[in-house]
Amino acid sequence: MTTRRTVLQAAPLLAAPALLGGCDRSSAYDAAIDAQRRHADELAADTRAVQRELLRYATLAANSHNTQPWRFESLPDAIVIRPDLQRRTPAVDADDHHLWASLGCATENLVQAATAFGRRAQVALAGDRVVITLAADAARRTPLFEAIPQRQCTRTDYDGTPVSSADLRALAAAAVAPGLRCELIVDRARLDNVAQFVAEATTAQMQDPRFVAELKAWIRFSDAESLARGDGLSARATGNPSVPRWLGSLMFGFIVSAERERARYLQQVRSSSGLAVFVSDRNDRAAWVEAGRAYQRFALQVTALGLRTAFINQPVEVPALRAQFGRWLGLGDARPDFIVRFGRGPLLPHSLRRPLDEVID
Ligand SMILES: Cc1cc2nc3c(=O)[nH]c(=O)nc-3n(C[C@H](O)[C@H](O)[C@H](O)COP(=O)(O)O)c2cc1C
Repeated sequence: MTTRRTVLQAAPLLAAPALLGGCDRSSAYDAAIDAQRRHADELAADTRAVQRELLRYATLAANSHNTQPWRFESLPDAIVIRPDLQRRTPAVDADDHHLWASLGCATENLVQAATAFGRRAQVALAGDRVVITLAADAARRTPLFEAIPQRQCTRTDYDGTPVSSADLRALAAAAVAPGLRCELIVDRARLDNVAQFVAEATTAQMQDPRFVAELKAWIRFSDAESLARGDGLSARATGNPSVPRWLGSLMFGFIVSAERERARYLQQVRSSSGLAVFVSDRNDRAAWVEAGRAYQRFALQVTALGLRTAFINQPVEVPALRAQFGRWLGLGDARPDFIVRFGRGPLLPHSLRRPLDEVID
């Protein structure tokens, strides 16, 4: 059995694209990425056009398994985001923590973009709706806004070089939010401790057939599949070639062992400059949305600094290990929301999003 990261990082084993009809570089895929990840040429004047641009920026946010579990509604002075419960991932995210955090990520991109488009955004959670009220303000393009199209989850080894104290301060500042703390870990011995938690949790997930089946359903093995669906975990986004689904499916069960995974994660953590653990005081939807917003600001700041980041959430996704991990961090009852690593590495191909018209009501 395997995990999302395994299949997505199994380049050597899947690297036979010419032989198998895949292609090294898909112009259709790249064209779709370019169209989705462009900055607006100019600030649109009318409200409808502005809101459509804000929604495009929102959809470029990080989101669990790239399920894009959101529905948007444009009102005259507000945008509403609702969860799309058809896109739940109950095996990895039984209580919808990641789903609500994903809405938080989209909310934060929207807030950052609103500032650039001369709108002040106020966010409130009302039942199952995130309501973002927009009021006129001076237009200001911030470094976080500028980073939106380039931000990505970069699932590769980094170069291990340290990040300066000034950059660490900037990362911590970006993640400041009410009821949440972001603990940065750069000490090598502590990084190794976290790596052991990641290895153990990875093994637990690999032994869970529900987790593996759900993951497989969200993997897009070929460019054609990615383009047709516009969602999911595309192999290309982690530097792997496009292969037909039959091959990807065939390889799925063969490519990894728990041992190889353990080694891979130890290496990924060791190659990172540091880790950030996001911890909420409360454990409810409002806190999960807030944590998603803080993570997204952190990831945008990472990008603005020319760094890379990726989640290594396994220890917070396996409930028994989440409690152990929390105790190791000295958290008491507080819930660790996410674990992410950061460092210097290459930019990989981006992942696709569904067309806007598919997510607007
Ligand atoms: C709440 C949340 C949890 C995530 N957990 C993981 C994870 O454990 N491992 C991983 O590789 N990616 C994880 N991701 C990253 C998503 O898979 C990624 O955001 C999505 O595929 C879109 O790609 P992009 O962020 O590069 O645009 C997570 C994202 C969110 C918002």
